[in-house]
Amino acid sequence: METKKFSEEQLSEAAKILAAGGLVAFPTETVYGLGANALLPEAVTQVYAVKGRPSDNPLIVHLADPEQLKDYVDNLHPAAEKLMAKFWPGPLTLIFSIKNNSLPPIVTGGLSTAAFRMPANKKTLSVIKQAHVPLVGPSANTSGKPSPTSAEHVLHDLKGKIAGVIDDGATSIGVESTVLDLSDPAANPMILRPGAVTKEQLETVLGSEVEIDKHLVSESERPKAPGMKYKHYAPDTKVVMVQSEDWPAALDWVKQHRLRAGVLAGPSICETARFETAAVYMYADDTVEAAAKGLFAGLRALDESIAGLEIILAAAFPETGMGSAYMNRLKKAANQNFFQVK
Ligand code: TXA
Ligand code: MG
Repeated sequence: METKKFSEEQLSEAAKILAAGGLVAFPTETVYGLGANALLPEAVTQVYAVKGRPSDNPLIVHLADPEQLKDYVDNLHPAAEKLMAKFWPGPLTLIFSIKNNSLPPIVTGGLSTAAFRMPANKKTLSVIKQAHVPLVGPSANTSGKPSPTSAEHVLHDLKGKIAGVIDDGATSIGVESTVLDLSDPAANPMILRPGAVTKEQLETVLGSEVEIDKHLVSESERPKAPGMKYKHYAPDTKVVMVQSEDWPAALDWVKQHRLRAGVLAGPSICETARFETAAVYMYADDTVEAAAKGLFAGLRALDESIAGLEIILAAAFPETGMGSAYMNRLKKAANQNFFQVK
């Protein structure tokens, strides 16, 4: 199959292909999604097939307008209206109980709940509107690869397997949306996956407590979002996280052991590290927001940078605000390993 890059003028063509059951990857503010008509089970089956993704892992239904929710949900959580008004379009996915048979079981993994989000990308919103159907959109990578933050990443993984990709450059956030469980109107909202919309922001808007799924705090707990249990991308090269105060010792250690090391960090660290290591991927600045934006692209780049890279040292950040989402993804890539000063 030829995989096309759709220009701004060709969005209506992309929408037609999607409505008819084809697969088109779309940009969002978080990562690129692999779009398909959420109401056509055959199209959704294809999504799992081309990604190589386990089909018990439910998908997010992407909407162009909060009004579209009414077709699927009749019992909104009391927090829902406020959150949608404040954060949609944006990187917040909401889980609701759905009306019986309102979505194909292949979308929900057979659950009585489903995930919804309205992404903040003009081209994508326009395509969803023109397709007149909601779109499923898991990250548009092969399962086991980092989520794609550019159209090039999508093509690297899925060229030849999908009808096309809508290119809108690099995504601005870089990690997937916050997933918030609102399925029980009597329960407090609960974060199942950390993202750019933080617990603190949610609590400020709601003026009440937001809980965090226990598995995000303790490794021995089972996650409530099915997708969080799967092994995420870990590069072939071993990744070790480095706390900011440990960088001098970590760079010393790779030097002493003559390791071919890669560094994934902000400019203040990379400026020294580039003379002592084999490869660096530098975040745009030293903030955790820049780190989140560059994380997946950096892991892809370093993994492919030079043959025989033995270790990747990656900057750790405090786990507050955006740091929760960044560290959640990095810890998976690093298999929880931190550099420890002997
Ligand atoms: O930022 C994003 O959310 C991106 C962009 C493309 O929109 N999409 C994305 O989709 O990350 P995906 O499929 O990779 O992640 C969806 C997550 C999974 O962890 C899944 O288990 C969870 O949402 N999820 C979906 N439906 C659920 C449900 N009914 N109950 C609990 N978790 C659910
Ligand atoms: Mg994903």
